[in-house]
Amino acid sequence: MTTHDVRFSDYENIVFFTGAGMSAESGVPTYRGAGGIWKEYNFEEYACQAAFDRDPEHVWEFHNYRRKLIGACAPNPGHVVIAEMEKHRATTVVTQNIDGIHQLAGSTTVHELHGGLWRLRCDHCGNRDTRRDAPLEDLHCGACHHYWRPDIVWFGDSLDREVFDQVIKAMEGCDLMVAIGTSAVVYPAAQLPILAKASRARCVEINPEPTPLSDIYDVCVRKPASEALAEMAQGLL
Ligand code: OAD
Repeated sequence: MTTHDVRFSDYENIVFFTGAGMSAESGVPTYRGAGGIWKEYNFEEYACQAAFDRDPEHVWEFHNYRRKLIGACAPNPGHVVIAEMEKHRATTVVTQNIDGIHQLAGSTTVHELHGGLWRLRCDHCGNRDTRRDAPLEDLHCGACHHYWRPDIVWFGDSLDREVFDQVIKAMEGCDLMVAIGTSAVVYPAAQLPILAKASRARCVEINPEPTPLSDIYDVCVRKPASEALAEMAQGLL
């Protein structure tokens, strides 16, 4: 099948479900596959609560490296297509990405399933802040001076219930669900497209590679995100 089988103009309520491949063309490394982050960094040392409790400075070194790298990345044309779609159709972004690039591109309804790299929280006093400093110099909460924790869903953490409920509603209420650049191996996020499918939405996967979930999709587009999105937006943008 070609991308021309799917035109955004034929749908009213579109959910874009994005993973690391969405930002690959912005220069943000993916997690798995060639050049993947988890090949170079052991998540048990950098991306779980036990590691943070053991050595917060070490965990912050990794997250400050990520802040520097991602802070220098800009939205790619695929992010821009998704942001522009808000002017034409009911549009919701459900993202596993922590990079904040959809918001930079101008998307306003963005559910961050795995939290955000720029968001800080203090689990000691409950303080929260958002800072784009790259790197973050002062690692301590201004209120109680305990370490800030990146407000990211690390391995072993639960998803935010409120966010998850909103995402379920979005998946069940859309007539087109477009999954972009996710390997579909991290649960529970990976199973969300099944909700859209069960609610009879047309389901499209954009990914140069097949995934374990490819079989559930009505259309699989084996192209990079920006190219596929530009084709589907023809007639509207
Ligand atoms: P992965 O790194 O697991 O998968 C990235 C996917 O993007 C792969 O299937 C690639 O084939 C695809 N891809 C690469 N370049 C692309 C392009 N230009 N256009 C479209 N697709 C492309 O990333 P995720 O599935 O997002 O968790 O990973 C899920 C979660 O695992 C992440 O949210 C992260 C990680 O641990 C947290 O940070 C909490």
